Amino acid sequence: MNTATPATPVSAELDVYARYPIEIESGSGVELRTSDGRVLLDLYGGHATAVLGYDHPVLVDVIAKQARKLFFQSNAVHVAVRERAARALIDNAPGMARVFFVNSGGEANENALRVACKATGRSRVVALRGGFHGRTAAAAACTDGHDAWYGFAQTPIETVFVEPNDIAALTAAVDQNTAAVIVEPVQGMAGAVVLDREFLAAARATSRDHGALLIADEVQCGIGRCGSFFAIQASGVVPDLLTTAKGIAGGFPCGALLLTEAVADGVARGDLGTTFGGGPLACALIEATVNEVTKDGFLDGVLAREEAIRAQCLGGVVESIQGRGLLLGLRTRVPAREVVAALLESDILTGGAKDPHIVRLLPPLTIDDTHVATLAAALKRIAS
Ligand SMILES: Cc1ncc(COP(=O)(O)O)c(C=O)c1O
Repeated sequence: MNTATPATPVSAELDVYARYPIEIESGSGVELRTSDGRVLLDLYGGHATAVLGYDHPVLVDVIAKQARKLFFQSNAVHVAVRERAARALIDNAPGMARVFFVNSGGEANENALRVACKATGRSRVVALRGGFHGRTAAAAACTDGHDAWYGFAQTPIETVFVEPNDIAALTAAVDQNTAAVIVEPVQGMAGAVVLDREFLAAARATSRDHGALLIADEVQCGIGRCGSFFAIQASGVVPDLLTTAKGIAGGFPCGALLLTEAVADGVARGDLGTTFGGGPLACALIEATVNEVTKDGFLDGVLAREEAIRAQCLGGVVESIQGRGLLLGLRTRVPAREVVAALLESDILTGGAKDPHIVRLLPPLTIDDTHVATLAAALKRIAS
């Protein structure tokens, strides 16, 4: 028998993430403090969740008050703050009439796909190359490149992938067997790839013509990140279903599925459900986050920061800039991971993307012009 004390594992956590070589201890405003005393400018926003940054006085106050008042109640009862959160979302989502709350982006998409399959009686979905929709069974099936990690023997739906902004390929792919077309109006993981207005309009038209539903996945690009409350609003297109999560409650885990009245009419009691979705803490934070993001001038600020980044960060190692609002991709002349590492040396946290030449910016929407200037100066120091 081996009586030697087993070696202490490096980490008790499962090793499934490539991590930055830092440990974050706390956050304030748009800055993160590391355990070894560094202060970082956060232009990654915790995977786009920290829309209002860290330690936001309103969010901290709201969660403390709600925790004291009512920590949790399930969907078996009415809770006023849940209704207010739902109203806050649909008031800012033209064409949407009802909300089903969940706990994550993947869960929101899973439910959207379930609703679409049930409503149409079909199980084929058209999705886009570069698209990311989550890791649950159906959402992952619509995610480009899922074969590398999917794990299940088969997917619950059949997916046809087409290139973003290829209207001919899209219209050829949608037919009488299509349950849904799922798109991110601005693709996040792909590296801030903007879908053209014409492409979104074609997705709307061809879905409608074939009796399929259009799902807008705004898990990453929604909640003000692209300069309108939901990114698809910039195109004037109204989807049948809209999913959102990440920044919806300023970083508190939750998500939502928004439905038009027509789609909601086809959903019966018992069709969907969740224990934690729509909990009072999440809903209080959703209401507060929506209030902040829709304050006069807030979204203008997002577009102004985009303009400043485009004006000051182009050139040198940055060949071009894509994306919209504060979901931006800096196309780099050298591999993006080298630029992400160099920026981290300058105490700036940024992200990568599926495209190895894209540095992704997903900062809190509260960054100001001084933060943009800090980024521009750090980029200029990187040799191209
Ligand atoms: C566009 C999009 N949809 C869905 C998801 C999945 O969200 P979650 O990780 O909350 O399940 C993500 C996560 O990155 C995303 O970017």
